[in-house]
Amino acid sequence: MKKEILKQLKHQPDYVSGEALSQSLGVSRAAISKQVKTLRALGYPIDAQTNRGYHLGHYDLINQLELDLLVEEGDYPLRAEFHETIDSTNRAAKQSETETIIVALEQTKGRGRRGRDWISQRGQGLYFSLSLTPALPPQSISAITQLAGLCVARAIGEQALIKWPNDVFIGSYKVCGILTELITQSDYVEKLIIGIGLNFQPVSSMDTATSLAEQGIQLTMLQFLDRFLVEFYQVYPRFLETPTLQSWLEEINQRSLLQGRLVRAVGSDIEGVFIGIDADGQAVVQGRDIHHLSYGEISLRGVDETT
Ligand code: BTN
Repeated sequence: MKKEILKQLKHQPDYVSGEALSQSLGVSRAAISKQVKTLRALGYPIDAQTNRGYHLGHYDLINQLELDLLVEEGDYPLRAEFHETIDSTNRAAKQSETETIIVALEQTKGRGRRGRDWISQRGQGLYFSLSLTPALPPQSISAITQLAGLCVARAIGEQALIKWPNDVFIGSYKVCGILTELITQSDYVEKLIIGIGLNFQPVSSMDTATSLAEQGIQLTMLQFLDRFLVEFYQVYPRFLETPTLQSWLEEINQRSLLQGRLVRAVGSDIEGVFIGIDADGQAVVQGRDIHHLSYGEISLRGVDETT
């Protein structure tokens, strides 16, 4: 019931009387008052005035209630799971039975790509994973993760750029990393995990990273999640119907950090000019020949390498 009270208070800029709440929820005013106390204990600044009722002030909270409301109000086909702390949201997402979003404020074993750790301190970033069951062959998956990168970039704002395959940068600094993991059964995808780590506050140990705060972007974690899910559920169902990036290529390439720059594919001798991605999400690099790279990482020649 506290979710229903919160919902009503959130959508009502003025005071809402205890009587109105008790009538619309079909419970006593004492029950309303009890739930308001519980909400206050969770950190919600609810003012109560005789003859006026209850008023919810400004707050910046993220918790199970908020996540449930976000998913419910957006009508997303997801189960929502919130953790103050967890080992890794990707690890947990692999075990979920249904399509789920798992959000955490801290990870004790946050995982990055290529076996790296992902620093996941409380207050520093938002860590979340989507567990999805797209009925698609494994080769379509790289494109979905690039769509996720595009959605993160859109949710941050126009200054956010995408570094193939799916990092998000602001200027020359990384603000978000995405780790995609797959559980496959021969030729189909049983589960797709898209894990996203976004820096809200500076990561002190990394001079290649940035955060929303350092870039002067004032988004709360909840606002970001809201924007991200709106974007993702605009593109994902369309992609499932027609699994190609064609509709988003122009925007992805416009937002590409690498576009037109001299690059090298990490761990290979392929280098040349990054000329964009193709409709399958492959990176197209023009060296002596044209190379279509389906996975791996790319470094910017002369910027993030010394050779
Ligand atoms: C990278 O190396 O750039 C990818 C980092 C991905 C980190 C996110 S945080 C949420 C999810 N859970 C994890 O353990 N990792 C991903």
